[in-house]
Amino acid sequence: MLITFEGIDGAGKSTQIQKLVHALAVMGIEAITLREPGGTTVAEKIRHILLESSHEITPIGELLLFSASRAELIQQVVMPALANGKTVILDRFFDSTTAYQGYGRGLDLEMLRSIIAISTCGINPDITFYLDLEPEEALKRKFSKRSIPLAFEGEELDRMERSGLEFYHNVRRGYLDIARINNGRFVLLNALDPVAVIHDSIIAHLKKMFVA
Ligand SMILES: Nc1ncnc2c1ncn2[C@@H]1O[C@H](COP(=O)(O)OP(=O)(O)OP(=O)(O)O)[C@@H](O)[C@H]1O
Ligand SMILES: [Mg+2]
Repeated sequence: MLITFEGIDGAGKSTQIQKLVHALAVMGIEAITLREPGGTTVAEKIRHILLESSHEITPIGELLLFSASRAELIQQVVMPALANGKTVILDRFFDSTTAYQGYGRGLDLEMLRSIIAISTCGINPDITFYLDLEPEEALKRKFSKRSIPLAFEGEELDRMERSGLEFYHNVRRGYLDIARINNGRFVLLNALDPVAVIHDSIIAHLKKMFVA
């Protein structure tokens, strides 16, 4: 089974994945957790290129780098794990490409679909948990322990995060469109809810899937 988590930076993906892995372990289900971009030696190097603040990268270059990282992860790690009957949890997958490079950077959605089909080898998640959050709220979380200007432009942020607040509003709009189009696979969760409430909802959805 392939489970993916989506949402803008700071929405709570890592928090929920950690709780889910623990809950699955208690049930005797061992899950492999991987993050995009990353997960293989080459993919982690690509991650570094993509997120390093000082790099200027064109939207197409960015798309192809994310896609190259994805191709490595899928073929080297995810496909073998799924073939062995393992549960794989991905922190971001191709919906991030549609939301960030499509709605965020403005690349053609039809072209993205082709690239996604190639980079994923046609693999689809069984279920996607999308944590919906306003960009302003995400920013507050990110800097809750420090006082910096409220903008996605600070020096402490990675290259993607420095794209600005308007970019993040477009990304969120993208996620909400994806959720509408894929309502069978996409589970929309309110990221403002308490961590435990979101976790319970995730478990309930997974249990429902296993019964179905
Ligand atoms: N439901 C929640 N309510 C309030 N705060 C939360 C909630 N979930 C996570 N947080 C807090 O928000 C911050 C960001 O969470 P987390 O790192 O899980 O997000 P993320 O989606 O993985 O972000 P990134 O994309 O940057 O990796 C953390 O400080 C976390 O403790
Ligand atoms: Mg995270």
